[in-house]
Amino acid sequence: TEGGTDEAKRRAGERAARAVEDGTVVGLGTGSTTACAIDALGRAVADGLEIRAVPTSFQSRRLALEADIPVTELDAVDRIDLAIDGADQVVDQPAASAHGALIKGGGAAHTREKLIDATAERFVVVVDPSKLTDELDRSVPLEVLPDAHSVVGDRVRELSGEPTLRDATGKDGPVVTDNGNLVLDCAFGAISEPGDLASRLSRIPGVVEHGLFVGLADATYVGTDDGLEVREY
Ligand code: A5P
Repeated sequence: TEGGTDEAKRRAGERAARAVEDGTVVGLGTGSTTACAIDALGRAVADGLEIRAVPTSFQSRRLALEADIPVTELDAVDRIDLAIDGADQVVDQPAASAHGALIKGGGAAHTREKLIDATAERFVVVVDPSKLTDELDRSVPLEVLPDAHSVVGDRVRELSGEPTLRDATGKDGPVVTDNGNLVLDCAFGAISEPGDLASRLSRIPGVVEHGLFVGLADATYVGTDDGLEVREY
């Protein structure tokens, strides 16, 4: 994928996997960086680590099953100890209130990601340095009920956003999420108050979930080509 190197992603993912303790329930995020954590967890499980995993998407479930990690469901566990998940952008501005705010949903999985990440006792973000930013300025993905996409688009324009229905590749028509919904990618320019925009987007009927994650992350592990940087929030 765009941006960081495979080496940087691997370092971030492997560091997060090392934080997983025996006997715990782990939330497995979606994307290429989390995939490195799932790989590493699979090796640890083969070496005797006992965990149960709650995946956030069809894709992460499949990777976990391939790695022989025991997979369960959110309603079958009484807690999630640690969630490991990637991000499309992370605010890296210790002096700013938005420090640690994220945009997610590049893989159209942000609804289940937010559910699992917010439920977890601890939520660790794994990224390479290309994801760090002073201000969130990528499009914010909204998962919307299929027949709501045009009215939700109108409401997004009222908030000065520009909505685009995400198109699928290899299919005529839009991306359909794991939950059977559509994705509107909404460009707002630079988002100076992500918490404020997050609550406005949450109030639009027909929006199942948006990709702004504000105040949810407990830490970010930034893998680099030769090391690792940790942000704790
Ligand atoms: C999935 O919907 C996203 O939130 C991913 O977590 C995000 O796109 C990160 O993916 P990469 O690690 O591949 O960049």
